[in-house]
Amino acid sequence: MPHDFSGRTALVTGATSGIGRATAVALAERGAAVVVHGRDPRRAAETVALIEEKGGTARFEAADLADPAEVTRLAARAGSVDVLVNNAGIFRFASTADTDQATFGAHLDVNLRAPFLLVQALAPAMVARGRGAVVNLSSGAAATPGFGTGVYGASKAALESLTRVWAAEFGPAGVRVNAVAAGPTRTEGTAVHGEAFEAAAQSVALRRLADADEIAEAVVFLASDAAGYVNGATLSAMGGLPALG
Ligand SMILES: NC(=O)c1ccc[n+]([C@@H]2O[C@H](COP(=O)([O-])OP(=O)(O)OC[C@H]3O[C@@H](n4cnc5c(N)ncnc54)[C@H](OP(=O)(O)O)[C@@H]3O)[C@@H](O)[C@H]2O)c1
Repeated sequence: MPHDFSGRTALVTGATSGIGRATAVALAERGAAVVVHGRDPRRAAETVALIEEKGGTARFEAADLADPAEVTRLAARAGSVDVLVNNAGIFRFASTADTDQATFGAHLDVNLRAPFLLVQALAPAMVARGRGAVVNLSSGAAATPGFGTGVYGASKAALESLTRVWAAEFGPAGVRVNAVAAGPTRTEGTAVHGEAFEAAAQSVALRRLADADEIAEAVVFLASDAAGYVNGATLSAMGGLPALG
């Protein structure tokens, strides 16, 4: 079974919401023991309950990914991990003039430094075992300019760059590293943008927003043995570009 994760442990960051929760549930349904990461214990308990209702195995590990010491502690508490999904991310959109230094720093801390520290801590054991998969959550904003998405898109473009570097660094040991560039997706995080976000569907060929489950399936594919020869790729799950004119 190419999508069978039995006997494997997966750490999914930001699994208390949206795409991360859908990914945690999808991996657990396929047999993975899932380490559910986030900050909010109530939302974490909901994810764990969802997984356990379906007969899966999950446990919660809390960490604020803006704090490098907490990231390192999360890696230690997660233990031996076969699949790492760097999903947790923040998106606070503002024009360049309106982006203060704290917002700039927060994007790099959570969206870039935390994945870096987790890969730094967890990939060596994958290399030693000769097996493992990392999937990073990116965005169309990494490559396409958008009003207010500058720092967010830059953090994701850097994460895509690291994806290619890590694929080259760990690939010789059988550890694959890929990314999913998600299009506009209905999640708790995007719900706060209301109708403005719904309008993003018009910038997509499919003319609709994605469901978190659809992005999760792309993540699961890249993490699975079915993607055994896919390494260093950024898979576009963006619903396609609309025709111009
Ligand atoms: N939704 C979209 O349209 C879209 C499109 C492209 C890419 N993406 C990317 O996909 C990923 C998930 O997006 P989403 O829409 O599902 O997000 P979301 O609903 O806002 O959830 C964000 C998750 O990240 C966690 N998180 C945020 N800041 C954190 C911090 N400092 N420390 C620890 N955890 C933190 C949250 O955990 P707690 O609340 O428990 O702290 C939550 O679980 C992000 O990387 C995002 O950039 C999303």
